[in-house]
Amino acid sequence: MTDALSSARSSLMSNAPVDATHSGVNTGVAPVTYGTGDRPPRGDYAKAQADYTCAQDWAQYSAADHDTYRRLYTRQLQQLPGLACDEFIAAVGKLGTPDRIPRFDELSEALMKATGWQIVGVPGLIPEEAFFALLAARKFPVTDWIRKPEEFDYVVEPDVFHDLFGHVPLLFNPVFADYMQAYGAGGMKASRLDACELLARLYWYTVEFGLIDTPQGLRAYGAGILSSGGELRHSIAVPGPRRVAFELQRLMRTRYRIDAYQATYFVINSFDQLFEATAPDFAPVYDAVRTTIAQHGPLEAGQVLEGEREFAPLPG
Ligand code: PHE
Ligand code: CO
Repeated sequence: MTDALSSARSSLMSNAPVDATHSGVNTGVAPVTYGTGDRPPRGDYAKAQADYTCAQDWAQYSAADHDTYRRLYTRQLQQLPGLACDEFIAAVGKLGTPDRIPRFDELSEALMKATGWQIVGVPGLIPEEAFFALLAARKFPVTDWIRKPEEFDYVVEPDVFHDLFGHVPLLFNPVFADYMQAYGAGGMKASRLDACELLARLYWYTVEFGLIDTPQGLRAYGAGILSSGGELRHSIAVPGPRRVAFELQRLMRTRYRIDAYQATYFVINSFDQLFEATAPDFAPVYDAVRTTIAQHGPLEAGQVLEGEREFAPLPG
């Protein structure tokens, strides 16, 4: 079981069927749940606008909420050296003091200056199309609530700690920032092509659980890893999970798990490589992947192809 959520926009991006629950209440927007569980959605969707964004009511965080954030932040920060990529470590300080949950408007101002991105509040998971539209407009949706103290190690849905600590530092990197916007635009197109399941795997295995090969060795850049108390070491320095080179069609063929540490990680060489590999039109890529899956089936998480090169875990 993953300790920090292995989610993110991840359950949003899960292979599970979407099952939006409609409240029938005439304020705000319908809450969203993913998968078939009977768990009620957690956020307050009544306060959301039509685009699913909501104001961050910063004053309503309690002292305990700020303390949870500070403890999560501190635990993750001390694990970063040797495990997180340099770009993440260089930018994590932009989140400001660890002592309190950041204000989205202050962070947005700094991000806007750096890469033209903004942070927008959301009550929780939002529908795919709303999510894609925000990314395409360089707006990153951040869940406004924080996990309860008893959820310190594991929270089922992404919360403000995952969304901010995991995702926001790399939005300060120009290449990664452009990749995220391109992903949003690609999502809008994938919706029309009925290819969201394939595209979601790309998000999962890069934005959430991506590894990067550096001269110093493997490092993590995926938000689901970087915000997790246990998966950071697991992904980089523990034998067991498979670590294979990023290859777009191979990745899109690969299923994933949302309730455990990943069994497979995909390794990029650079953010430029990621951006360039995903720049071409995906329409023929989706067709090719569908054909392969029809002929040979999907690949399961943890499955490695014959002759496929694997990256060794870092010692330690
Ligand atoms: N090139 C992709 C397409 O045509 C768009 C995209 C870019 C998707 C980056 C994901 C990531 O659909
Ligand atoms: Co996420």
